[in-house]
Amino acid sequence: MKKTKILGTGSYVPKKVLTNEDLSRIVDTDNEWIYSRTGIKERRMVAEGETGSDLAYHSSLKAMEAAHTAADQLDMIIVATLTPEKRLPATACLLQDKLKAKNACVYDINVACSGFVYGLSIADQYIKTESMNRILVVGTEVMTKILNWKDRSTCVLFGDGSGAAVLGPTDQSERVLLSTHLFSNGSLYHLLEIPAGGTGTEWTPDAFERGDHLVKMKGKEVFREAVESMSSACEIALQKANLTIPDIDVFIPHQANSRIIYAIAKRLHFPEEKIFINVDKYGNTSGASIPIALDEAVRQGKIKSGHKVLIATFGAGFAWGSALIQW
Ligand code: UT7
Repeated sequence: MKKTKILGTGSYVPKKVLTNEDLSRIVDTDNEWIYSRTGIKERRMVAEGETGSDLAYHSSLKAMEAAHTAADQLDMIIVATLTPEKRLPATACLLQDKLKAKNACVYDINVACSGFVYGLSIADQYIKTESMNRILVVGTEVMTKILNWKDRSTCVLFGDGSGAAVLGPTDQSERVLLSTHLFSNGSLYHLLEIPAGGTGTEWTPDAFERGDHLVKMKGKEVFREAVESMSSACEIALQKANLTIPDIDVFIPHQANSRIIYAIAKRLHFPEEKIFINVDKYGNTSGASIPIALDEAVRQGKIKSGHKVLIATFGAGFAWGSALIQW
């Protein structure tokens, strides 16, 4: 059986910066509260007319360039997004059109913040078994369009962006995906949801007035679950690979809140200097958070040849997981 190699990564964020100061002019908040509770200083926001497939197009081009892969070589495109550009068709179709990746089969997955890691896992199955030769996995989100700008407890947390990776088969041991571990608990769906706007929910003026078409979250409960779940997903990945924390060179956690990240580090005794954090610049970009962080860590030289990289993710569903990469 082949191994799955990460041939190249890319990321892209919109140019427009929204600082905590800017938010304090929209809702009753301030930089001190946001920074001390979340570690976020600023986030990015799409320009008028800029869409999720536009962001995905730019991050994909960078990943394809790094992977020396042309658009017509792609066999599959998986787009992880909870903010699809249209109800129909999938954002992946719009991306395929922009890339002119005419030989690919394409589809979206919605696993909220954990979508990219789920996408990696799906792609891994096709590549290991040699059913596909080149797969593009993209996380792209326009979170600023689904936030309630009157709810200070959620609107300060999220931002827009996209990250991508091109995967292909190898017999070597460099830049290979060692394992992925996926978990879900649908019984807690109500702690983080957009209640209205699907086919199962009445689209009434009342629902609209309540902001049910926008993100609603029970922050404290989500925080607790995120720490617990990501910690256990890391432990399982390490245990199955017969590794311990000192074996890991770089830890890339989902970028939702630096307090969540430090709580996991404390629980697992993870040295803080091995953790990659960029939540200060982008906030929580949901399904784009892991691939943006992975790409930045690679391009900044924080991930080097021979490094073992541990990824942990968590989001609505709840769905969470981990991945191990031998760089
Ligand atoms: O991707 C996965 C999804 N999301 C997450 O992982 C996020 C998980 N949750 C969190 O990160 C944190 O729970 C939050 C950052 C959302 C909230 O932090 P917290 O320390 O749990 O604060 P809290 O919700 O307990 O709120 C404390 C106070 C409240 O005031 P009172 O009731 O104590 O008077 C809030 O009304 O802070 C108030 N507050 C704010 N104040 C200023 C809530 N949001 C804001 C705000 N600015 N933006």
